[in-house]
Amino acid sequence: MKILLTGGAGYIGSHTVVALVDAGFEPVVLDNFANSHPVVLDRLTSITGQPVPLERGDVLDTPWLEDVLRRQQPAGVVHFAGDKAVGESVAQPLKYFHNNIGGAISLLRAMEAVHAEAPETAPTLVFSSSATVYGDPASMPITEDFPRGHTNPYGHSKLVIEDMLYALNAARPAWRVGVLRYFNPVGAHPSGLIGEDPAGIPNNLMPYVAQVAVGQRDHLNVFGNDYATPDGTGVRDYIHVQDLAAGHVAAIKALLGRDESFTVNLGTGRGHSVLEVVRAFERASGRAIPYRIAPRRPGDVAQCWADPGLALRLLGWRATHSLDEMCADTWRWQSGNPNGYRS
Ligand code: NAD
Ligand code: UFG
Repeated sequence: MKILLTGGAGYIGSHTVVALVDAGFEPVVLDNFANSHPVVLDRLTSITGQPVPLERGDVLDTPWLEDVLRRQQPAGVVHFAGDKAVGESVAQPLKYFHNNIGGAISLLRAMEAVHAEAPETAPTLVFSSSATVYGDPASMPITEDFPRGHTNPYGHSKLVIEDMLYALNAARPAWRVGVLRYFNPVGAHPSGLIGEDPAGIPNNLMPYVAQVAVGQRDHLNVFGNDYATPDGTGVRDYIHVQDLAAGHVAAIKALLGRDESFTVNLGTGRGHSVLEVVRAFERASGRAIPYRIAPRRPGDVAQCWADPGLALRLLGWRATHSLDEMCADTWRWQSGNPNGYRS
């Protein structure tokens, strides 16, 4: 059974490719390599022992997408493709509205057009949403019925796409749509062959800590130690990318098996502070992680963690990897590939 993964060469997409092969699906990667590298496909071949088909192109190109859907006839589509840097989205909002919202519209129109030619199969889509749609939540843990909001154009784009999907599903009840709200994906495949490869200076904590550990940056700036959290630093629900990949397989199976749409959190249900992550990474790497306390980062919330109960009830999925495993696998990837896929 073929599954088309837009953005499948990216960080979360590449790990999902491996999980889908392990579960007996045939993943097809669609990517324009705007934020990834073609060598990912070779790494995926090494891990899975089989070539992974590639459709190289842009999700904004609707006629080409229709052609891909007609040729590949996937049983489902996972839509990862998009831009994801919060700071860049503030500086370049149109880039985010164009690529993220425009990309989703393009994909949905292509799926609708191809469905009209073969109406007997229900269009099946999984969408990469984010805990960012909860804005600054009033309490923890976060359940899916919490009010949604946005604090930057990236988050706004995710909110708009969710609303588009809900409107489309209301008009087309035969569509099966799974909206997955990821918390903080970290870690790498245990082989050390694929992982997160941020361009330039990492925005996110775990890749930054990993680059300090490997000696590429001399210290970590801890953005604030005066939050109302146990040690004053920000608390997040870090989730191993392997667990996240398994969540996509569970979502695809649920959509294909039960004819039902859903929106679920993918998190562990546990929060860790910045300093807890630093200490866990020191244990995993055996290296010291020098850090300095810096001012709070604008737009950051004090804490954010999921109630993952609905994903367990609906999908039979729960995260199983610990923070120590997340750090150990990140370290294996980072130390084996100090310059990412350019190593
Ligand atoms: P990533 O940048 O590693 O992967 C995205 C992939 O999409 C890249 O390979 C990129 O080349 C491709 N792409 C971008 N625009 C494209 C286009 N127009 N046409 C074709 N391909 C295109 O990001 P990721 O971390 O793997 O995230 C995947 C998805 O999950 C994104 O939608 C992101 O917003 C969402 N998400 C990520 C996080 C996170 O912290 N990583 C958290 C919540 C949600
Ligand atoms: N942090 C530092 N120093 C750094 C980087 C981060 O102290 O150099 C701190 C942050 O202040 C925060 C924590 O580490 O307290 C986590 O920060 P990240 O940037 O790794 O993650 P965020 O929770 O801020 O954001 C991530 C994604 C967003 C997504 C959000 C919710 O980057 O796209 O999770 O899913 F919206």
